[in-house]
Amino acid sequence: MAKNARIIGTGRSYPEGILTNADLERMVETSDEWITQRVGIKQRHKAAEGEYTSQFAVAASRQAIERAKIDPAEIDLVICATVTPDQILPSTGCLIQTELGAHKAAAFDVVAACSGFLYGLTLANQMIRGGQSRYALVIGAEILTRYVDYTDRSTCVIFGDGAGAAVLAADDDAERGILATRIRSDGRYAEQLFAPGGGTRLGHSAESLAAGDYYFKMRGNELFKVAVRSMAEVSREVLEEAGCRAEDVKLFIPHQANQRITDSVADKLKVDPSIVYSNIAYHGNTSSASIPIALDECIEAGRVAEGDLVLLASFGGGVTWGGVLLRW
Ligand code: COA
Repeated sequence: MAKNARIIGTGRSYPEGILTNADLERMVETSDEWITQRVGIKQRHKAAEGEYTSQFAVAASRQAIERAKIDPAEIDLVICATVTPDQILPSTGCLIQTELGAHKAAAFDVVAACSGFLYGLTLANQMIRGGQSRYALVIGAEILTRYVDYTDRSTCVIFGDGAGAAVLAADDDAERGILATRIRSDGRYAEQLFAPGGGTRLGHSAESLAAGDYYFKMRGNELFKVAVRSMAEVSREVLEEAGCRAEDVKLFIPHQANQRITDSVADKLKVDPSIVYSNIAYHGNTSSASIPIALDECIEAGRVAEGDLVLLASFGGGVTWGGVLLRW
């Protein structure tokens, strides 16, 4: 009999360094008032020089594994969602696997920007349901601030660093765990959020570095509309697939990109604002880490109880989007 995939432990970690709106006011032509009103961010974590992505991924994973009460050696799948890996080769997943002592696992990275964690959950769910995995570790981890141009006010106020992790286990209870998943992408919108440098196309020349090709470039206005449309659409799709209604959802965690995006999606879905989680004010947009960090905070704050319907929705560069519905 196919088993369900259930989250049995979560964790989070982020750098100690904090970049406030007041700090940004000293760097670019912006204001705390503009950032607060247009995006909803007050501060974001920022890694110090020398810190790297897998450090935070490992810390978040250790917490998730401890809470799951399993031995790292029992983990058979490690999926790290990231667009800011430690290095080109090997995958950050392999580096994390080694640090954790999860030597039996298949480890790899998923590159789906802010939807990466939901892509990872979707893959882990299928591996567990297919009987190929018993304990899977899914991580979202980013040091986005390394790729942010701190002279570009339209992007530098948005992104922050951090990591979140979840351990999934195969479970016989058909009523609990992941009920439905949906992941999508549309590369025709690739230039809404992209970093062209650092790969084989533009190379690693001094010219490319000087031109700022490594930095994130964004068409925020266009992305905003795609974000609202796609997150609302994918949320409806997973609800429909599981035979559930939006009003049954007890906790809604959208990707934390912009408070106005969150509010618009919640409004479109007609969910009660009190069930919508937001931490963007103090984390900013941490891309693939945003949903697992938020989920871990919700669990810690007692915002999710056994039997609750939990809806996760994301969108990001690619563009990519995804939805996951769980019965806690
Ligand atoms: N401080 C002050 N003014 C700023 C600013 C900043 N940090 N960033 C942009 N502006 C200015 C613009 O230059 C523009 O000025 P102008 O009218 O004189 O040309 C004005 O604000 C409006 O710009 P616009 O881009 O239309 O603002 P917006 O309301 O769309 O907000 C974003 C910009 C980026 C906050 C918003 O579009 C957004 O959040 N989009 C989605 C981005 C996203 O989620 N990215 C991550 C994907 S996972």
